[in-house]
Amino acid sequence: MAYTTTAFPEKFLWGAATSAYQVEGAAYEDGKKPSQQDIINQHSYEERGFATADIASDHYHHFREDVALMAEMGLKAYRFSIAWSRVIPDGTGAVNLAGIKFYHDLIDELLAHGIEPIVTLYHYDLPWALVERYGGWISRQVVDDFETYARFVINEFKGQVKYWTTINEQSIIVQYWTRKCFIPEEMRGDNQLRYQINHHMNLAHAVACNLVHELVPDGMVGSVIGYSPIYPLTSHAEDVMAAQNAHDLRNGYYLDIYFKGRYTDSAMAYLERHGLAPKIDPGDMELIASGTSDMLGINYYASECARWCPDDGSKQMRWNGVNLTGKKGDINGFETHPGFYEMCKNPNLDTNDWDWAIDPIGLEYLLRDIYMRYNKPLMVCENGLGAFDELTADGHVHDPYRIDYLEKHIAAMKRAMDYGVEMLAYCPWSALDLLSTSNGVKKRYGFIYVDRTDDDPRECKRYRKDSFAWYKDVIESNGAGLSL
Ligand code: BG6
Repeated sequence: MAYTTTAFPEKFLWGAATSAYQVEGAAYEDGKKPSQQDIINQHSYEERGFATADIASDHYHHFREDVALMAEMGLKAYRFSIAWSRVIPDGTGAVNLAGIKFYHDLIDELLAHGIEPIVTLYHYDLPWALVERYGGWISRQVVDDFETYARFVINEFKGQVKYWTTINEQSIIVQYWTRKCFIPEEMRGDNQLRYQINHHMNLAHAVACNLVHELVPDGMVGSVIGYSPIYPLTSHAEDVMAAQNAHDLRNGYYLDIYFKGRYTDSAMAYLERHGLAPKIDPGDMELIASGTSDMLGINYYASECARWCPDDGSKQMRWNGVNLTGKKGDINGFETHPGFYEMCKNPNLDTNDWDWAIDPIGLEYLLRDIYMRYNKPLMVCENGLGAFDELTADGHVHDPYRIDYLEKHIAAMKRAMDYGVEMLAYCPWSALDLLSTSNGVKKRYGFIYVDRTDDDPRECKRYRKDSFAWYKDVIESNGAGLSL
């Protein structure tokens, strides 16, 4: 694909991203109480050999060093999330002063280094107290409690933070619901709850959008969607229809809420037919429609592929497939909706070790597609390559595969921009190595290597990877130094 020679806009935000529970550690320190992620992951090591979230990258204790490294890389923005359970440990009630101080210190440090904070209010880590009290996202009560938490946080940082994102990856929460939310064993057979939880998140998202509009006059707010464009496996009309169905249920169903304030009809028809549709109370859709988005954050790692799946009883409905070992091909299945679509491997694309297709053009495709439909500014809030990195004896990490991945994705984003897409920021995943949501700390994404393993947290010493120097050059030249 030809690369363009026009420059990136002067104010383009070259950034990087993390999330609280995956990077902070200090899970039980200074008044923080557990989030559902601390509980969901508490036996990860015994069960799968993956580290827990207790220490993660120990960013809580290293944040000044981390911000200094980010500044050395030249970052103009840092997208991170606030842990509700650090700020209001019981979910409601008393604020933890040490917890809120941590985020004040972090944001002050970022601003002092000229780095724009992009804050995510919620990234999978609901306070455990709310799960114990009423089941967490299963209950509508969570929307009111989220409002109180969000109002507090937005008020606290409204003078310093312009860019707010609401809830990370609702679509992925629906797919991997028992990993992203605590769902009691006895409720896991009730798949309608996936969409009910998502409906509650839609309400919370709208509430947060309205709060930013009320409290931060020059602010911008939007959700962060986990997004994969979906290609038909073949040009057979059935496969093309299946890809459209998959798009409607996995992508359109969220985008239409954020930008049109309504559920996608085809996806709703499918859900209703199978008793999976959310229960919508009077006033809900009005609230959702009132919470307009100014922008959208996009997390893109891989495109996906769909084919037709007959509804003849040969296949069961399922929502995901995952590779837990990092051995290519070890994926345990594919999302399947008989009579609608079935996901499958794309034979035309290479993958990373966890079977995620590597597809830079997919990023250009989705950015153009989303922008053409909704015409709102976009930011890439995550994009990156999970890999087994190696720290050499002399303290280097050679990660040309990551540089190659990022370079091609930046080029793809730039082509989309040249076709008119308004991009605010590019925040690859991740600023530094952190705990993967599905594969422990052995699956690394960062520009900064964190010296720990799943077995041993060591000192979490930081090292600059080769990609660190490469990204520094990209930023310094405002993209002009890219070799594509
Ligand atoms: C996104 C999440 O789904 O993908 C991140 O927002 C996550 O939290 C990232 O880390 C990569 O996925 P994983 O499973 O490799 O950590």
